[in-house]
Amino acid sequence: MATAIIYYSKHHGNTKKLLDAIAASGSDVELVDATEKHELDLSKYDRIGFASGIYYGKFAEQVLTFAKVNLPTGKDVFFIATAGNPTKNCFNSIAEVTEAKHCKELGRYISKGFDTYGPFKLVGGLQKGHPTEEEIQGAIDFYKSL
Ligand SMILES: Cc1cc2nc3c(=O)[nH]c(=O)nc-3n(C[C@H](O)[C@H](O)[C@H](O)COP(=O)(O)O)c2cc1C
Repeated sequence: MATAIIYYSKHHGNTKKLLDAIAASGSDVELVDATEKHELDLSKYDRIGFASGIYYGKFAEQVLTFAKVNLPTGKDVFFIATAGNPTKNCFNSIAEVTEAKHCKELGRYISKGFDTYGPFKLVGGLQKGHPTEEEIQGAIDFYKSL
């Protein structure tokens, strides 16, 4: 099944760790960095994933914009995220975009991610050591279960 995952992972590469593990697990998946590619014909993929660290409660603007510009209507989509404080609200921004395009959500996966933003830097950061091996394996299992 042709799958692309559009991602943004710049703070500590936390989200990219999950995606690299998915790609290395033998899954046939194309990883697309939303900071390098701004346009792509997504109609040729069966499933489209959107992955991001959470910034100010939302997916990165680059991923949201990519989805607004390139995502065809009615596609199967899924979401992967890492956050200093993971909550289900972390997916609201991307779900809003895909719902407006009448896409079907296949699932969502979130894990903790090392966070040294702002004041957290002074205390050595939040969620040090995350994503852990188990969380990375959790992402692989999630992907395989789609
Ligand atoms: C500018 C900035 C804003 C952030 N805002 C949030 C936030 O609102 N909620 C949260 O849970 N984590 C927040 N974080 C932490 C990141 O979501 C977390 O470190 C994530 O794993 C980063 O992913 P990445 O390394 O793939 O970029 C923020 C980090 C940065 C740098």
